Amino acid sequence: MNPSIPGVHLIDHPLVQHKLTLMRNRQASTSSFRRLLNELAMLMTYEVTRDVPMQEVQIETPLETMTSRVIDGKKLVFVSILRAGTGLLDGMLGVVPGARVGHIGLYRDPATLMAVEYYFKMPQGMNERDAVVVDPMLATGNSAIAAVTRLKTLNPRSIKFVCLLTCPEGIAAMRAAHPDVPIFTAAIDRQLNDHGYILPGLGDAGDRMFGTK
Ligand code: URA
Repeated sequence: MNPSIPGVHLIDHPLVQHKLTLMRNRQASTSSFRRLLNELAMLMTYEVTRDVPMQEVQIETPLETMTSRVIDGKKLVFVSILRAGTGLLDGMLGVVPGARVGHIGLYRDPATLMAVEYYFKMPQGMNERDAVVVDPMLATGNSAIAAVTRLKTLNPRSIKFVCLLTCPEGIAAMRAAHPDVPIFTAAIDRQLNDHGYILPGLGDAGDRMFGTK
């Protein structure tokens, strides 16, 4: 937890920072950007799941019976905000293969600049699950806020928000709207520009991971 910003977990592990630097570089190819994003997602999941509930099970080692602890992956649901959230999912599922997956599709209405929902699909029984909402960039916060507001209508047991990068404006907006939702990020950059991009940032995460520009 970053002590100066309540509710914000800055994951500053050297491996995370190293990979993020490689991703920021404009020279990174689409394939290396995607591979790094995948690796970063795995590493960040390690921190994000640090406090998940565990249960005791009895197992047989080759030598004797013992009681040991496991997580119930099925209780976790990773909620991807389309489209860029998809880039984080593979890595997260790589370390929690039993997790369920939900999707929220939002676009920005050009007239009102508000987030408009076009897709929403969650697993059954959300009130018994812990939700982890993922989107690589927490910039203006509009999509993240709308996604979490919608998710709360299903009363998940808990909600966390995971991004690669954010900025003071994004954190302030998200904390004001959803003070109960902790934010996990690998970096807090300087500022937003007039087009809603994070500076210095890494550009458009969706375009860079899918090669659409
Ligand atoms: N979305 C992006 O992909 N990049 C930004 O810098 C801000 C929002």
